Amino acid sequence: MSDTILTAVAWPYANGPRHIGHVSGFGVPSDVFARYMRMAGNDVLMVSGTDEHGTPISVQADKEGVTARQLADKYNRVIVEDLAGLGLSYDLFTRTTTLNHYQVTQDIFTALYNNGYVVPQAQLSAISPSTGRTLPDRYIEGTCPICGYDSARGDQCDNCGNQLDPVDLIDPRSKINGESPKFVESEQFFLDLPAIAGALGHWLETRKDWRPNVIKFSANLLEDLRPRAITRDLDWGVPIPLDGWRDQGMKRIYVWFDAVIGYLSASVEWARRSGQPDAWQRWWTDPSALAYYFMGKDNIVFHSVIWPSMLLGHNGEGDRGGQPGRFGKLNLPTEVVSSEYLTMSGSKFSTSRSNVIYVGDFLRDFGPDALRYFIAVAGPESHDADFTWDEFVRRTNTELANEWGNLVNRSISMAFKNVGAIPAPGTPTDADAALLAAARGAFADVGDSLRHCKFKQAVTEAMRVASLANKYISEAEPWKLGHDPARRDTVLHTALQVVSDVNTMLTPFLPHSAQKVHEALGGTGVWAAQPEIREVGEDGGPDYPVLMGDYDAQQAVWASRPITPGTPLARPTPLFAKLDERLGQTGPDWAPIEQG
Ligand code: MF3
Ligand code: ZN
Repeated sequence: MSDTILTAVAWPYANGPRHIGHVSGFGVPSDVFARYMRMAGNDVLMVSGTDEHGTPISVQADKEGVTARQLADKYNRVIVEDLAGLGLSYDLFTRTTTLNHYQVTQDIFTALYNNGYVVPQAQLSAISPSTGRTLPDRYIEGTCPICGYDSARGDQCDNCGNQLDPVDLIDPRSKINGESPKFVESEQFFLDLPAIAGALGHWLETRKDWRPNVIKFSANLLEDLRPRAITRDLDWGVPIPLDGWRDQGMKRIYVWFDAVIGYLSASVEWARRSGQPDAWQRWWTDPSALAYYFMGKDNIVFHSVIWPSMLLGHNGEGDRGGQPGRFGKLNLPTEVVSSEYLTMSGSKFSTSRSNVIYVGDFLRDFGPDALRYFIAVAGPESHDADFTWDEFVRRTNTELANEWGNLVNRSISMAFKNVGAIPAPGTPTDADAALLAAARGAFADVGDSLRHCKFKQAVTEAMRVASLANKYISEAEPWKLGHDPARRDTVLHTALQVVSDVNTMLTPFLPHSAQKVHEALGGTGVWAAQPEIREVGEDGGPDYPVLMGDYDAQQAVWASRPITPGTPLARPTPLFAKLDERLGQTGPDWAPIEQG
């Protein structure tokens, strides 16, 4: 049975290049999932884009001496290139500064307002006494009133995960210059979460199969839900779509409110760019459609509480009732899949410290699949995980090169040398049959793990089959079977069939090398499709780069596919270059390990 599955991927801020910690949270897991789901015959729509509003952008723009828009233009392109290089198969990766996104955001705001879930209210807002300028939440630090953590931010405490307002902080101070902010009254719009809490609680109770950390975390938040400001005194963001507010230079919709709406606006944009303007509805208004959201753990609350509340209010499903807006009744998340943090030698990856490994540098030196593999097998799926060069070298050399690369290389080389083509099999022995059955049987297990977002378990099981095949070859010793070509060919045929099967199972993880193995086995055409960068525009707006792809055209299907005897083979080239062991001690010159 095929499902309709929205794969909604957290939107990276366009305030700098992304590091490998970022893509281990939202990027690689979502792509492995989407690629598997497509191979298994489901209708996948995978969307995201760069998050370009709010203080994270404004503050970096000030630092670089450019406007917020110039900054967003610059890093949107860098991020698009990095994500393309990693092979993340977005149906659309766009940005939040499109006219379409502004329109959709304003429509959702208006629907919530009309239903009575968005209400105006005076709020104390922080200004810097020395400059008189609004002090953005993220740049106010203080002690968390809930858990006592001493470096809570004005918008959220990273220790207990609670959302905060800057006025709540004990001993608030400016992160920019340390001064204490002054609080002045200012009118804002609030999302009336208490009026939606009942509906939200009922819905959360139906989410039985979420990862326990996400359920527990969300249920705790329900106990103290307060109205949440969704506008700010800012000049960079989506204008408030109400008379008297629309033209106010210093009032904008809060970045998180518009960012989560990006999942919908990107789907709408994708449909338009695909020439079927209503096609987004299949993923959003058909109640049987599934929606999987992928993110790092600091984003959980926005996806398990805020976005679902916005959707419930939009749909008219809170205490005040109401009518859905022009998009109709929208689906809530099926799964909120969050990753923990990738650390480097114990400390969280952070751009402000020097221990940062940028995706672009990494791809240039090591290519995409080694990074994808490391993240899948050793990434922060359910615990914080540490990235070390030593471990990266070890995994790449022993698992990718020695286990998988070597299996591909030696089986294809021997068949090429002896037969020049895929050999025809004779009668199988028990050992042949057992290996073939193990490979065929693994599709169900690996697929099941992938469906449940257990990526580490899935890739480990696929690699286990590769190691069984290596053992099989070592025992069958086809290189000693020159006197018995029929038996030799049976062994080689068996090995190549298993190479093909393992390659299929590794395709979601290693799509670039999977394409090469497909070709090395004599295949032609696209096995695993890759995203392309396209320059697009809107009526009345400037051009910008997006990622899109023709994923329907790929051949990869989640099943064992019989190899065809007689298919000509070429001499294979090594699949994974072995890394110099010294890299594990020194790191690359652009991210040297501090020797101490
Ligand atoms: N830009 C946010 C971050 O990097 C994530 C936004 S996810 C969204 O933490 F979908 F809500 F946009
Ligand atoms: Zn706290």
